[in-house]
Amino acid sequence: MNEQAMLPDYNTFGHSELFLKLASLSNKYFNKSICSKCFDQYDLKQVKCGECASKDLLIRPISFDSKDIEIFQRDIAKRLQSSYVLTPDNFIKMLLIYMRVQSGIPVLIMGETGCGKTSLIKFLCQKILDEDLEIFRIHAGVTADIIINKMNAYIKKVQAYTDEEKRLWIFFDEFNTTTNIGLLKEIMCERTLLGEPLPNKMVFLGACNPRRQKTAQLIQNDNAHVGLRKNRYEMQKLLWAGTDQRLLYTVVPMPETMLEYIWDYGYLNETTELDYIKTMLLRCKYLSNFEVIFNLVIQLLFQSQNHFRQIEDASSVSLRDIDRFCRLYNWFLDSICQRGPQENLDNPPDTYIYRASFIALMLCYYFRLHSDELKDVYVKKIHTILVEKIPSIAKVPNYLISYILHREQKWLIHDRMEVPANTARNRALCDNIFVLLACIVNRIPLFLCGKPGSSKSSAVQILMSNLKGKKSKDSYFQTLPELVAVSFHGSQNCTSESIIKVFERAAKSVGV
Ligand SMILES: Nc1ncnc2c1ncn2[C@@H]1O[C@H](COP(=O)(O)OP(=O)(O)OP(=O)(O)O)[C@@H](O)[C@H]1O
Ligand SMILES: [Mg+2]
Repeated sequence: MNEQAMLPDYNTFGHSELFLKLASLSNKYFNKSICSKCFDQYDLKQVKCGECASKDLLIRPISFDSKDIEIFQRDIAKRLQSSYVLTPDNFIKMLLIYMRVQSGIPVLIMGETGCGKTSLIKFLCQKILDEDLEIFRIHAGVTADIIINKMNAYIKKVQAYTDEEKRLWIFFDEFNTTTNIGLLKEIMCERTLLGEPLPNKMVFLGACNPRRQKTAQLIQNDNAHVGLRKNRYEMQKLLWAGTDQRLLYTVVPMPETMLEYIWDYGYLNETTELDYIKTMLLRCKYLSNFEVIFNLVIQLLFQSQNHFRQIEDASSVSLRDIDRFCRLYNWFLDSICQRGPQENLDNPPDTYIYRASFIALMLCYYFRLHSDELKDVYVKKIHTILVEKIPSIAKVPNYLISYILHREQKWLIHDRMEVPANTARNRALCDNIFVLLACIVNRIPLFLCGKPGSSKSSAVQILMSNLKGKKSKDSYFQTLPELVAVSFHGSQNCTSESIIKVFERAAKSVGV
């Protein structure tokens, strides 16, 4: 065997090659039947998935021949790519996690928000190894009793395992948000629960955000905030009661023992992030068929991420923004194709791809900026990159805003939404409705901030009255889902329980 085959350079591997390597950690994609929707594994003879509602038959390799197994695994890799992409960075991280788990060391990962901690552990556990995984999402309202009850339930579950090899992975997500962190330390680091030893078949993992202070820039942004300005003393009394508002994440200090196990992911550096961007963009429909646009979008996203890091903080942007971009792009492209001539449905021209990409870009970055000056600076920066790659754009005045954004808003809002009498379709209202619509239909959480009276609630009401599913007046809105509002007024005195109740109410109203 030559050196190249024995010690390959993993940095040159793509998603499928990395997947083939990881698949060899377990038997999941070897001698099992797999559901093509939820990727649960079954006995080779089983034909239907018992877990999800999928009606598709289970899939498996044609034979145990190594060629057939590779074909099968490549097929699975392709299917998985739409939800999670492998890069050399997360490949190495997964191997290191696996090594620690095999050695019986708790895995505690720390990193900035959105650097991929939760999704990495879920992917490794469910899609590669198929171990039993319980995700315990910790938050400030989780009491010691809740933790003990949950742990007792897990112990029961593990005791019922008959298979020697089987293990239960317990993942404490955001574990430093509760003041009961001491109890979690006992469970994860000492492997006891109130002094009683825990079964060996339990594997503990945890993910958390770092305890660090806001940078001067962020504090400045907080102060230059939208909304009414209170005097500083009053603000301090109001905001700093209970939690330390100088902290970037609301987290508690960690016990020393835990610190020894902590593994700091920090945030993704530029080159790693570029890798993720390139691979994640393969999810965008038809985008990679157009090489020029594909490279342009990579460049635009990369520069936008850097721009936000410069004006705000390292944690301001993350893979979440890239994920959001892909979802919005796909939705807008579908929507644009639907409006155009039939023959373009399966063969969108490049103008559609441009439009969908730029609208998604504006939604991900432009609308987040809170002042007109910042918006101007950002648009200018993007425009310079655009003109460099596509010189013809320079001829269109205000290309991004007037040509792309306002045209889309006209189509979605001015031409088809009914607004109450005497309501002016001004900029603020249109922007609010547009962002709300795009986020709601794509299930992207949205916080609309603005000075009192800047059309926030009215935008929500207008949207509600127009999006009524099949009962909507407009034929395009009939193709969108119906919206049902569940409202909740937040205040300083809200508790975790009251928030949980809102979600229960919401679940009831949709009949879950
Ligand atoms: N390798 C990947 N391929 C595709 N998408 C990814 C990948 N890694 C992360 N993402 C996307 O990035 C988003 C954020 O990831 P994740 O939830 O794992 O972050 P996190 O580190 O747990 O953040 P937090 O500290 O806020 O909990 C997810 O929506 C996920 O879809
Ligand atoms: Mg997370």
